[in-house]
Amino acid sequence: MISFKKDNISLVSGAGSGLGRAISIRIIELGGSVIGVGRNEDKLNKTKNLCSIPENFYIEPRDLTTDFDNLPIWLKTLSEKYGKLSGLVNCAGIQETMPLAAIKIENSRKLFDINYFANIALIKGFSKKNNNIGTGSSIVCISSFTSLIGLPATTNYSASKGAINSMVKTLAVELARDGIRINSILPGHIITELMTSENNKLSEQQLDSLKKKYPLGFGEPEDVADLTCFLLSNSSKWITGSNIVIDGGASINF
Ligand SMILES: NC(=O)c1ccc[n+]([C@@H]2O[C@H](COP(=O)([O-])OP(=O)(O)OC[C@H]3O[C@@H](n4cnc5c(N)ncnc54)[C@H](OP(=O)(O)O)[C@@H]3O)[C@@H](O)[C@H]2O)c1
Repeated sequence: MISFKKDNISLVSGAGSGLGRAISIRIIELGGSVIGVGRNEDKLNKTKNLCSIPENFYIEPRDLTTDFDNLPIWLKTLSEKYGKLSGLVNCAGIQETMPLAAIKIENSRKLFDINYFANIALIKGFSKKNNNIGTGSSIVCISSFTSLIGLPATTNYSASKGAINSMVKTLAVELARDGIRINSILPGHIITELMTSENNKLSEQQLDSLKKKYPLGFGEPEDVADLTCFLLSNSSKWITGSNIVIDGGASINF
């Protein structure tokens, strides 16, 4: 059984909804603490109220796409305020459904800002010696199974997640010498706000045919939360640089 101590502190980006909220709740259920980050303070407060020990959820509202260069310095401030971090979960992200003809480079950059560059800046700050606990530190980046399959109209989104998959392999080697592990999780469709706003664009017929691709049905945020906690914990101490698919069998069935 996985358990954390209160001083196992993980920063979770996107903690105000969906997967980031479920991950935060599960870390705290297992005994750890979370610094929850997102732009909307009300959403973070809602997550705090849903936690079994709300005082172990620290709220730090922030737009992670402004002032990238200062994100590593901000991580230093957080580790001084709350204690050295043992985990970083890069979960904040946006999705777009956009066929090639409609792609605009400016929008593509915005998507890469949060889905990729914010990850790099947070990892840079986390990996500074005084900001993490050294051996036992773990980084989890939430990618997507769309980076592995040919799902039409997801070019930028899938490419941003493909960048994450490659990045964790390189950084796993660089960070291993400091005792830090890093992996990515590639979920299939999970019912969250992101997914339902996407679903609004799908007809019932489209949704039905999508569901048929999932031998085990659509996933739930808790499925990803459990895998994340495993990767944050010492139970996975020999796993680094891996891209781990969790999709109810969808990617072998597309
Ligand atoms: N749901 C799925 O089916 C699915 C499948 C595969 C992968 N994923 C990935 O899982 C991650 C979480 O998705 P989700 O389904 O939980 O979606 P979600 O409910 O929309 O959560 C995304 C979170 O990212 C935060 N965020 C967005 N832009 C931000 C910014 N500039 N700065 C700080 N925070 C920002 C949002 O908080 P604020 O609005 O408060 O900033 C929000 O809490 C994403 O990376 C997504 O690509 C999801």
